[in-house]
Amino acid sequence: MKILMVSSEATPFAKAGGLADAVSALSRALERAGHEVRILIPRYYFIDRTLLEPVVGGLAVPFPEGSVTCSLYRTLLPDSSIPVYFLEHEGYFGRDGIYGTKTEPDFADNTDRFALLSRGAFALCRALDWFPDIFHAHDWPTALVPVYLRHAERGGNFASAASVLTIHNLGYQGLYPAGRFPGTGLPWALFGSAGFEQGASLNLLAAGLRAADSLTTVSPTYSREIQTPEFGAGLDSVLRHRSSSLVGILNGVDGGEWDPAVDKLLPARYSKADIKGKALCKAELQRLMGLPIDPAVPLVGMVSRLAEQKGIGELFGPMHGSAWRMCTEMALQFVVVGSGEAWCETELRSLSAKLPNFRARIGYDEKLAHLVTAGSDFILVPSHYEPCGLTQLYALKYGSLPIVRRTGGLADTVENYDQGTGSGTGFMFDQLTPGSVFDTTGWAVWAWYNKVEHIRAMRERAMSRVFSWDKSAIEFSRLYDMALAAAKARRGI
Ligand code: ADP
Ligand code: GLC
Repeated sequence: MKILMVSSEATPFAKAGGLADAVSALSRALERAGHEVRILIPRYYFIDRTLLEPVVGGLAVPFPEGSVTCSLYRTLLPDSSIPVYFLEHEGYFGRDGIYGTKTEPDFADNTDRFALLSRGAFALCRALDWFPDIFHAHDWPTALVPVYLRHAERGGNFASAASVLTIHNLGYQGLYPAGRFPGTGLPWALFGSAGFEQGASLNLLAAGLRAADSLTTVSPTYSREIQTPEFGAGLDSVLRHRSSSLVGILNGVDGGEWDPAVDKLLPARYSKADIKGKALCKAELQRLMGLPIDPAVPLVGMVSRLAEQKGIGELFGPMHGSAWRMCTEMALQFVVVGSGEAWCETELRSLSAKLPNFRARIGYDEKLAHLVTAGSDFILVPSHYEPCGLTQLYALKYGSLPIVRRTGGLADTVENYDQGTGSGTGFMFDQLTPGSVFDTTGWAVWAWYNKVEHIRAMRERAMSRVFSWDKSAIEFSRLYDMALAAAKARRGI
């Protein structure tokens, strides 16, 4: 099949979170499965144009006032023969930030920016005279792709194409003032009938969820959770309505980027059979962060966007956070690398200054993320909700036992420790409270000191777990067939 991935992020070009890793790794796996895949993302200001090859100079994308002229560049996705196309427009993408900046976290014209990208997908196909079977969109930024396919681009060479929309995170929906709707270039009649309308706002994701031929999300548990009011973020009834078209397909680990046996970002490499390098990674992490270099003390690590979703309130909230108690009442070391909410960054700096066994590095640092994943004994992921979660998958592969809330992809990928038998690959709790994070971390630390043999066996077990994108690609191949059948039925063919 011919598949066009349309996304706001793709590793290594533009990354804000796991979405970027998922898009690139899935594309590679689909290519390995025999599909012809291409990717479209914006040419953001920070992507060096001189490394790209110009393709089309004057690409006309239909837009509210006539059309907008863009340029198109391309290069290959590393370790593949997948072309990645970059849509360039100075006014919309020639600025810092993917979705916004520190001072303006969500650009006011995001509807226009991502409408241009989504509509640009169709212009790209025309310009290249290449027409996909599947348009695969990801999250709210490209949720307009299925809407355009259904309502604006349904004829000609797109007549037999189907659309798939993957939900990586229902917490972000692309909610903007209704007055922004003309930016989509769609007629006002569709504002209500296509499902954009949400009070005085327009909801891009809501319309995409209704228009796509098939929907996926990134773990089976999350696919069930989002159909409930607790996790549905206001869209649970839409999702229940589309239940028969919604499938949960687990993300995988890209062995090219994340494998302790070949990871070039680590000071030492290791594997299940030869674990020595892990101790060197721990020592290097302790040295780098200015912690006592001590192999005997359990090191808890965290690599995370500092967003409410990730449980930062329960961990670092100044009044009731559990991190302070963990560091003062338990014999452990705690290392955090992250960036995000300003109050949390301030709190992390203050904890680093006050506590001898706590260190945080604020910012986005790929190399340090690898070192924390490898050098930690435990990786903490106390999320309120977690569609899939890649950090715990990396942790398992690197033999660092995850401490997680039993939700979404965390529930599907981590097995809880049983101190009677020693089975499991991590430590889990159900309710997210400062107390439960404290208690469960305490349980892991207790096992570290008292059940040494269990911890060793769990580490080995964790490293043996396989989360393969090739398996996901097989499930996606099946899903694409379903989407094509649904598109046919929709058109009455
Ligand atoms: P989400 O997409 O919700 O942020 P995931 O666990 O799916 O959560 O993916 C997070 C990805 O972002 C992982 O690849 C993780 O290593 C990376 N990451 C998060 N914060 C940082 C950071 N401060 N520096 C480097 N990498 C980070
Ligand atoms: C999102 C989710 C995360 C998931 C990632 C990739 O950002 O928050 O759980 O792993 O997308 O699908």
